[in-house]
Amino acid sequence: MQNILDILSRETKKAFEEAGYESDRVTVTLSNRPDLCDYQCNGAMPLAKTAHKAPIMIAQEVAEKMAGCEFLESAEAVNPGFLNLVISKSFLADYINQMEEDDDLGFEKVENPKTIIIDYGGPNVAKPLHVGHLRSAIIGESIKRIGRYVGNKVIGDVHLGDWGLQMGLIITELRERKPELVYFDENYEGEYPSEAPFTVSELEEIYPTASGRSKEDENYKNEALEATAQLQAGRRGYQALLKHILDVSVTDLKKNYSNLNVEFDLWLGESDAQKYVPDMIENMEKSGIAHESEGALVVDVSEEGDSKEIPPCIVRKSDGASLYATTDLATLVQRMKDYKPDKVLYVVDKRQDMHFTQVFRTARKAGIVGENTELEFLGFGTMNGKDGKPFKTREGGVMRLEHLIQDIDDEMYKKISENALSKSDDFDRSEAEKIAKIVGLSAIKYGDLSNQASKNYVFDIDRFTSFEGNTGPYILYTIVRIKSILEKYSASGRSAEGKKVLEEFNETQKNLMLELVKFEGVIKDAYEGSAPHKICAYIYDISNAFNRFYHEVNIMAEEDAQKQAGYIKLLDLTKRVLEQCIELLGFGAPDYM
Ligand code: ARG
Repeated sequence: MQNILDILSRETKKAFEEAGYESDRVTVTLSNRPDLCDYQCNGAMPLAKTAHKAPIMIAQEVAEKMAGCEFLESAEAVNPGFLNLVISKSFLADYINQMEEDDDLGFEKVENPKTIIIDYGGPNVAKPLHVGHLRSAIIGESIKRIGRYVGNKVIGDVHLGDWGLQMGLIITELRERKPELVYFDENYEGEYPSEAPFTVSELEEIYPTASGRSKEDENYKNEALEATAQLQAGRRGYQALLKHILDVSVTDLKKNYSNLNVEFDLWLGESDAQKYVPDMIENMEKSGIAHESEGALVVDVSEEGDSKEIPPCIVRKSDGASLYATTDLATLVQRMKDYKPDKVLYVVDKRQDMHFTQVFRTARKAGIVGENTELEFLGFGTMNGKDGKPFKTREGGVMRLEHLIQDIDDEMYKKISENALSKSDDFDRSEAEKIAKIVGLSAIKYGDLSNQASKNYVFDIDRFTSFEGNTGPYILYTIVRIKSILEKYSASGRSAEGKKVLEEFNETQKNLMLELVKFEGVIKDAYEGSAPHKICAYIYDISNAFNRFYHEVNIMAEEDAQKQAGYIKLLDLTKRVLEQCIELLGFGAPDYM
């Protein structure tokens, strides 16, 4: 459906032209003064100079031309030269009814779908997921869903960290513990066992132990470096161990991500890109964009006009090893070859900003990525504790994601069971646990997504789990409230099938309707700006508008059946819009809570 703002802009432009003015810069926006009007146009102001007229005169002439406009109840010129527009009730009701009748809520998909790869999650194999990975997963998942909803082909890639020193550390520790394993026998030529020589909990314990030892023991660290180099050079036994580490880790990661409603299309990792490295480096040397510097191979990427120094991108260390940048460049080679994406978006901690500037510039310079492919870095801020410092456990350690989720679920369970017990004694514990999980997820995700991604935010369990205020549980509570009214209505034997929202309504109902019609514009804005927080702000406004309406109008007691059916239609639309939006944010609503 055409956006209301676009319809009104078009009509207003027409009126400016009919009154003899240019209309290029005329647009209609939401009103700054909702107490006076619904929409406004400031187009008369900049015309005053060339027309040698006061803006208010121009606005008056335009207002006259708009007098009969079918979309408006009134168009009024006010000092010093604004146009105040009030929407026609029948048009608004019509628009709402059309949205309600359409399965897609009137949303029109993009005409030219793009192929977009989103690189998010970025967990490191064998290290447990910690809260630092939470933001990438939450934000990336939402942007993926929004991109798909508007009609694009979006591919989510987890981009596992599986090629660094952590692999060498694990191999070294494993060799110390079980030197007899066949993986360490250099002369072994047979098949390796299909069963991994460790479980996921062992693996999770092995890595921190190894990491701790390497910090204290120089020899140990050198062994780990050597093991990393041998793995990267293709030593068979180590490759087989890498495969085991990956299998065990990925199974566990999938389980964790699925608890977060996060799903990836590709489970590729840094190691998958390595086969592209040699040719890529050779091309960079041949074309002359890379040069030796203190034994390393580097690409100069500073550009005129840089406000800060951008150091050269190192693509090969002096000992011949690959680096983080090498891997990201090779991954781009792979992505271009396999998917020819129109865009690659990275959702990564904003402290990696410099790395991505270097990688993007090198990729362009080396011709790995052509001008038809957009590269975007969405750097997110840090999740802090109430003390304003990066979120930690009470003991000051790194908080594991599972524990954080458990804390939230426990808190939610407490609230939900208290709530349930206050209503009746009949209380189903396992049901309450299920609901606590659903609501808990909304608390975590909404708490994160309602902030602009690039900003740091404070993770505040008390605030995030509250049923009041700008929180996930508040949004779900609103949806549940609507569901329960709809259920009561149909349980009483009534049906709103084929009925419409009426043209007569009060101010609170109108406010709710004016919020709902913004749907398409908000989703498109959120898509274009990679900005899920806009959807959060939108559903918060809708929830507030709905709850005001709910408190003012007694829906179930309405005696006029037509009017009541109209309310039900409006409620149904409100529910569908809210549900669609939370689906795009990556969580769902229970039936009751
Ligand atoms: N594994 C990395 C980390 O934990 C994040 C990976 C981000 N994606 C990328 N293509 N570099 O810091």
